[in-house]
Amino acid sequence: MPVPLFDTRTPLEPLRGAIDAKIREVVDGSRFILGPEVGAFEREFAAYVGARHAIGVANGTDAITLALRAMGVGPGDEVVVPSFTFYASAEAIPLTGARPVFCDVDPDTFCVTADSVRAALTPSTKAVIVVHLFGNVAPVAEIEALGVPVLEDAAQAAGSNGTAGRPGALGTAATFSFFPSKNLGAFGDGGAVTTRDDGIAERVRMLRFHGSRDKQTFELVGHNSRLDELQAAILRVQLPHLDGWAAGRRQAAAHYEAAGLGELVDLPHALGAPAWHLYVVRHERADELAAALKAAGVGHKAYYRVPTHAQPAMREYAPADGLPGTQVAARTHLAIPMSPVLSRGQAAEVAAVVRDAGLGRPH
Ligand SMILES: Cc1ncc(COP(=O)(O)O)c(C=O)c1O
Repeated sequence: MPVPLFDTRTPLEPLRGAIDAKIREVVDGSRFILGPEVGAFEREFAAYVGARHAIGVANGTDAITLALRAMGVGPGDEVVVPSFTFYASAEAIPLTGARPVFCDVDPDTFCVTADSVRAALTPSTKAVIVVHLFGNVAPVAEIEALGVPVLEDAAQAAGSNGTAGRPGALGTAATFSFFPSKNLGAFGDGGAVTTRDDGIAERVRMLRFHGSRDKQTFELVGHNSRLDELQAAILRVQLPHLDGWAAGRRQAAAHYEAAGLGELVDLPHALGAPAWHLYVVRHERADELAAALKAAGVGHKAYYRVPTHAQPAMREYAPADGLPGTQVAARTHLAIPMSPVLSRGQAAEVAAVVRDAGLGRPH
């Protein structure tokens, strides 16, 4: 039986009636931009993550750009960011006028460490972007202890839990993406910034709306980057289910462990209680593993085979030293099926295909 890489449809099936009714309500109300649904979602999402403020924006990339600007990042500044992440984590930095400085990750967790960040700090460092990659919870407090403000890129970590709280409430500010395949996914683009800082929240609110508070006076050169009212309404129906879906993702990881997958590939080392957005394993022969999975109809993907610092647009920012952990992660990683509804049987099937591939021990 084929096993898909992810399944966004099945978890939403029981909610279809409620979502349809909400969409009708918004259409009937004719308030499509920054109406009551966006306001209510912002309050509910802030309460969920444990932050004072949530501000809905158009997508997760804008969320990073606006949050950095609101934190005072601009021309002449440096922002430390991991290279092993989705390109947008770094792309947002030059858009503020600042310079990305790439740091390494621990390939066992796919996250930055205090040591990897420390190695990238300079007197020009204005902020560090810590990515909770694949849903794992990066060590924000250890990095803040270095004396730099942390912006959490929590695009992949809605529903995860750390020992000190949820992603979204761990650093100076945090950003989320509600891209449809994310743990909390809209039916289009969407994003949010969360923060406990009243000043940052106020500036993000202005920046998403042309730098204005009232559409009369324009105090900043801003953006048009608002969370859509329909998307907010859809997200509100889903939010109460996020913890249950996160538990399903952790259960799926437990199914893989019980099926003996850890003897065949390197499993991701969990930090906190991750709501695995992607379940990413490692093997030196990852491309052969991908071929075996493909032949068996098992979904898989190498997301970041070329890390961000090696992308053409980032060439001028590429570090002289080659980021060894990043190279290992980039060369050996492979995402295998993960969803809130991945069953014990499906996990066993994936493990059997990996075993039959006969690639030997991971290292
Ligand atoms: C780690 C990370 N950062 C940022 C983004 C950007 O989010 P969006 O696609 O909503 O702009 C994504 C996802 O796409 C992501 O995975």
